[in-house]
Amino acid sequence: MLQRWLALLSCLAQLWLLTEACPTSASREEVPPARCHYGTLPGGWIRSKGRVLLPWHEDNSLNVTFPVWQPYCSQCQMKPLLAPYLVAADPMQAEDLLDLRQLGVLLFGDSVDFRFLKFFCEFALDQEPKPFTFSDNDWLKLQGICETPKMTVAKQHISSASLTGPYWSDISFSPMIAIPDGLEKFEQMFGRMPDIVSIASNFWDMAGIFSAGGMRIPGTILEQEFLPDDFMRQWVQNFTAILTLIKERVPEDTLLVYHTLHVPRHTSDPGMWEADGYLAQHVAQLNAAGRHVAQSLLYHVVDVEAMAAQMSQDTVLVDNTHPGPDFMMQVLNMILNVEQAHREALKASREPSKLKGYFRWQREKFSGQAFFNGRKLHEQLTEAAM
Ligand SMILES: *[C@@H]1O[C@H](CO)[C@@H](O)[C@H](O)[C@H]1NC(C)=O
Ligand SMILES: *[C@@H]1O[C@H](CO)[C@@H](O)[C@H](O)[C@H]1NC(C)=O
Repeated sequence: MLQRWLALLSCLAQLWLLTEACPTSASREEVPPARCHYGTLPGGWIRSKGRVLLPWHEDNSLNVTFPVWQPYCSQCQMKPLLAPYLVAADPMQAEDLLDLRQLGVLLFGDSVDFRFLKFFCEFALDQEPKPFTFSDNDWLKLQGICETPKMTVAKQHISSASLTGPYWSDISFSPMIAIPDGLEKFEQMFGRMPDIVSIASNFWDMAGIFSAGGMRIPGTILEQEFLPDDFMRQWVQNFTAILTLIKERVPEDTLLVYHTLHVPRHTSDPGMWEADGYLAQHVAQLNAAGRHVAQSLLYHVVDVEAMAAQMSQDTVLVDNTHPGPDFMMQVLNMILNVEQAHREALKASREPSKLKGYFRWQREKFSGQAFFNGRKLHEQLTEAAM
């Protein structure tokens, strides 16, 4: 009897190792990169030139002395996956990069997400992004596209998680319209659906409340330390509808990412939403709600909040609200590492598995594949019923 229990325990211990993203035990077992959850693994900023994740730039526009973010897990170190895409636009380098996989990235969010696009385009092509869903130049801070030989990045605006508004300054990009528009336009321009779709909503939700309150904090829910229950409940409901909409519109292999946001600089100017006395708390509340929705729909989370929290705002931000290029390009590099791990996990989950039932489900759950198989099953059932 005892032997049986010991055998069962050792079996469970092995299962634990199998499903653990980064074992903290003394085990030296290899961790396949597919099991590294780069976006949420605890990590820190390292000052070491040898670890640079971005290419050297002659004009030092990417600061090579800027610290590098790495997970503490030694088996889950991020690779410099963005660097080849940044240099791939240079015809002198093109030959070395023939086997670089073509990537399409579509970002839904606000002016912070626009910075991924802007800095990528500046470093890769020395250009500003081109108009994406609108040709009016006024929209350039909100949406645009950058097409390089091996990677296309586009950004489409969404005016917050509210489905119908009112939105900040009446800039009306309802996610329920902007998302299908963005996907359709991307497919037209890129020739197929994006490999990566990322979404974030936070600052415009708060700016929308501020705007609806007559561009002031007093009298709005921003005066309260905790955003009220019914507001948060609605936010979760709306964000769930939005993330579900994306899921329904993209191929099942597409990497789906939600990223949290850093805390902007607090300002004493009463005409700006960043004058919110509980700015840090409200950003954290919306980030927590976003993580909840994203995880429940099996999106990959990229925790920008955790990365920014370990640096001073002077190091992260170039103004009150927006991070600079060094920070943004490291987040983009992280997204590419998440994508590569996702791709490897997909491949592994499609190899015939000897694992059955609960054990197989565990493996799929931890590789982030359970949803996709679940949807397939659902589709089969629907087809069978027809
Ligand atoms: C480069 O980054 C370091 C560390 O964050 C900072 O102290 C320095 O001012 C930066 N230099 C430039 C040119 O941005
Ligand atoms: C959620 O969307 C509804 C419209 O469907 C809107 O009336 C409401 O204000 C939104 N709430 C939040 C918190 O986004």
